[in-house]
Amino acid sequence: MSGIPTLEDLEAELGGDLSGKRILVRTDFNVPLDNGEITDDFRIKSALPTIEWLTERGANVVTASHLGRPKGEPNPEFSMDPVRARLAELAPGVDLRENLRFDPGETGNRDAFVAELVDGIDGYVNDAFGASHRAHASIVGPPQHVPSAMGRLLEKEVDVLLGLRNKPKHPFVAVLGGAKISDKLGVIEALLETVDSIIIGGAMCFTFFAAQGKPIGNSLFEPDMVDTCAELLAKAESMGKTIHLPDDITGTDAAGNFAQFGSRLGEGCIGYDIGPGSAAAFTDVIMDARMVFWNGPMGMFEDERFASGTRTVAQAMADTKAFTVVGGGDSAAALAQFRLDDEVDHVSTGGGASLELLENGDLPGLAALRGPSGV
Ligand code: 3PG
Repeated sequence: MSGIPTLEDLEAELGGDLSGKRILVRTDFNVPLDNGEITDDFRIKSALPTIEWLTERGANVVTASHLGRPKGEPNPEFSMDPVRARLAELAPGVDLRENLRFDPGETGNRDAFVAELVDGIDGYVNDAFGASHRAHASIVGPPQHVPSAMGRLLEKEVDVLLGLRNKPKHPFVAVLGGAKISDKLGVIEALLETVDSIIIGGAMCFTFFAAQGKPIGNSLFEPDMVDTCAELLAKAESMGKTIHLPDDITGTDAAGNFAQFGSRLGEGCIGYDIGPGSAAAFTDVIMDARMVFWNGPMGMFEDERFASGTRTVAQAMADTKAFTVVGGGDSAAALAQFRLDDEVDHVSTGGGASLELLENGDLPGLAALRGPSGV
């Protein structure tokens, strides 16, 4: 990305020799844990190219990350110990600081905490793509004090995601799911400018159904977003873009039994997944695309009864010849659950960060690395 120093630029700025130099690497090691055990080390492995590039040149690497959302004070539940143990297996000899969010200065972006982070440090690398939408101390502070660069992961993520935004190949399809339209509103509006169509699944489809005046039973929806959904549908139509909504739904009936419906749900019914007809129709759209971005599951895939829509979309992502990008979070977890994560072109390590980059074309962490001149 132009204007942001690379690892090579950092090496040159530090006199062409990194040996013995102490380099702080901000990573996103915010991994899922179950009873203190890491259930997916994708984010740790994704930081290895940068860590290894630095250690091969003799740098002393100190990594730093947040884990979970502790409230600005030490909390054993969010200790970095499990991550430290895994990192020691993957990159022996590399230090890892304690959870950055144990200090209120991290999320508060306080100068004193930035000063502590850069104390004794010769250079800084941001490789924490998944946290670069946060203007937190460890993301935006160090570049103001020490020579700084983006790591390999950050560079790749930005290249891929800005490629979607700025150099789309048509037909370009966005597949959006998850529960809340309010989380995705900005990105939907931004994507409407570049995509040819948007597929909507997950509980957010019920807010669209409500906007179309369809009964949704007791399905989850956001009443205060109904008007916004109506506006989005009208806007898409006026732009000649298609918003594909499911026309069948899987869920439970009023008695709580597994059931399949059309797109009108009776009293007491709850939708938990797109139905098989919609999954097949969405597959056709994905197969005909040249570029696909997917964020958010089609249903409650953690429950096998309601996993089929998400599995079918994941399989279509794997099968299509389109360039496929999956934007972190639950959709990346779904791909991993279906063992299809190697079958797409790019799985982003950042959920919120990938959406924000697609929406705004920039992130606080990138702006910080560009420096005050904004080159
Ligand atoms: C993520 O998991 O999306 C990133 O690590 C950011 O975490 P946060 O949403 O707690 O800031």
